[in-house]
Amino acid sequence: MGSAAPSSSFGTPDQLEVLVSMEAAVVRLTETHQASRRLWFPNDLTSADAEAGSELEAELAELREAARGLPDAMRVTLALNLLTEEGLPHFHRLIATHLGNESPWAEWNNMWTAEEDRHGCALRDYVRDARIFNMGALERMQYRYIECGFNPDWQRDPYRLLAYTSMQEKATQVAHANAGRTCGKHEPRIQRVLAHIAGDESRHYSFYRSAFAEILARDTNRALFSLLKVMPALAMPGHTMPGYDHMSEVVRRAGVYGPRHYQKIVEELLEFWRIGALEGLSGEGRASQDKLMKIPARLARMADYLDAKTNPRNFSFDFIYDRVIEM
Ligand SMILES: [Fe+2]
Ligand SMILES: [Fe+2]
Repeated sequence: MGSAAPSSSFGTPDQLEVLVSMEAAVVRLTETHQASRRLWFPNDLTSADAEAGSELEAELAELREAARGLPDAMRVTLALNLLTEEGLPHFHRLIATHLGNESPWAEWNNMWTAEEDRHGCALRDYVRDARIFNMGALERMQYRYIECGFNPDWQRDPYRLLAYTSMQEKATQVAHANAGRTCGKHEPRIQRVLAHIAGDESRHYSFYRSAFAEILARDTNRALFSLLKVMPALAMPGHTMPGYDHMSEVVRRAGVYGPRHYQKIVEELLEFWRIGALEGLSGEGRASQDKLMKIPARLARMADYLDAKTNPRNFSFDFIYDRVIEM
């Protein structure tokens, strides 16, 4: 069984064979990723070096002054983007338990984790430097978020993991880029931080969607079935945590990320993988294909319904001192 975990608890024997057969492709995709990335560090964005000099103090004072103008809805957005990045331990574990630790996937997982780790660091450095939160309250929320765990019901199916990560990377890219544009109107430095992060997410997205394309090419019918299991709704870590729904509702109302953005992601991926054009499928494969192609219209109806029933209301969160947000 090659190097892909002979007695693993993930994947069926057929799936393991597929994973082994695509090891060379994974190595190639990892190399393409490394060639296209620009490795950056949080300290490049705001230096905290002992010998950073007196300009740093002036810069920090300027940052804090400008950040006072960040609207509360934008602060909630930054809090949710930060939390999402802090879900990293769960994602690292899910990748390791769905793809194994003895193949090129392990190398990818470790490198990917190192890249992702900077996202939470850079955002946390920013929100701490800018003094935009009740940090104690934010830290307690972050603790609860990670403590909640994340165990999506993927039945140890590696295909579902790769379908999910394709969508999740694109969703985070959109959320960071939109948050950057909106917050940047008030405070430009956060836009630079979020643009660096969004650039990484975009490259991760390319990697995962190409990896899933390799699966589709080798095991089309089963890949469609797995895709159908995760595509209708993108489960996120922390969604069971108190206050999470209100935060994502604020983010939706702020136009940063919501069901319409997800619908576009689904459409883009169905198109990239040419799901509608796949031929020679089994009966089950055709049934999955039909259902997959109907997802965008269903997501659009859900988004219309949400828009229609959206009335102005108040939100408040302890990490912004319970100030009332009306939207
Ligand atoms: Fe990230
Ligand atoms: Fe990412």
